[in-house]
Amino acid sequence: MRIIVFGAGALGSLFGALLSRQNEVYLVGRKEHVEVINYRGLEVEGKSDGTFEVSAGERLKDAPFYPNWIILTVKAYQTEEAADEILNTFPNVPVVSFQNGIKNEEILREMGINAVGGVTSHGVTYLGPGRIRHAGTGRTVIGELDGRISMRVRALAYVLSEAGIITEVSDNIKGEIWLKGSVNAVINPITAILGVENGYLLEIESLRKLGDEVAEECEEIARARSIDLPGRPIEEWKTVAEMTKHNLSSALQDIKNGKRTEIREINGAFLKIAEKNGINAKYNRVLTEMVIAKEKLNELKID
Ligand code: PAF
Repeated sequence: MRIIVFGAGALGSLFGALLSRQNEVYLVGRKEHVEVINYRGLEVEGKSDGTFEVSAGERLKDAPFYPNWIILTVKAYQTEEAADEILNTFPNVPVVSFQNGIKNEEILREMGINAVGGVTSHGVTYLGPGRIRHAGTGRTVIGELDGRISMRVRALAYVLSEAGIITEVSDNIKGEIWLKGSVNAVINPITAILGVENGYLLEIESLRKLGDEVAEECEEIARARSIDLPGRPIEEWKTVAEMTKHNLSSALQDIKNGKRTEIREINGAFLKIAEKNGINAKYNRVLTEMVIAKEKLNELKID
């Protein structure tokens, strides 16, 4: 298959590297990262390892082939911009989103993208240009937004699984996205505020309790929207934290790298939906505010 990974951060780079063994892959990412990848390959360590020769560039339009699939892994706040670039370059190509956040698929579909939903709980740390660490494995699930079990989704799940990214096909991808969103709503802000690896949330009793409270709040919000969750957030967040215990969450990596986090698209999105449904989402509110404050302190260069 010919696959473009649009958003070669930590996770996108891992997927691109693993897929490149049996497929033609092109990574779209930031200048300093793609320059090193083109010069000496993409170095992966941890649960997967090796140096992968993958072609990479800064723009979709420079891809050396017409793709069968685009894997979208840009930050959730870049979804609209990425969708515009896709529509201008490869308008009909199917796009599977493996982004954090609970609204990407909706945005993509509304913008006219031929979108498929996805979630993954692999934990990946960006070490520097051309280098990533696969810090933890996790479930990967894809599915058509209307719940059909289509041939194209089965074929993609096969290709991902063959690359070592074991992938299930779901008839309830929306529920999966909300369940994963709940996991991110627990792990990402708390690790970003405290500056610790995911596993510490399980080690410290008060954090475990806090995690459970956030998870329960997300479940209540999902229920208000009649989302059929395929599991309990209160259990799922602990499974993911255990599997990725040595990972730095994407939110913590963003804070460390002085970047904007996806807090508005994760806890902020839960909070907005809660407000519309008359739910007092106090945990999501406080966590959103705290992480936004962390971003501001970063801007002011205060540790
Ligand atoms: O955003 C993240 O960091 C990841 O989605 C996950 C699975 C929580 C691992 O750190």
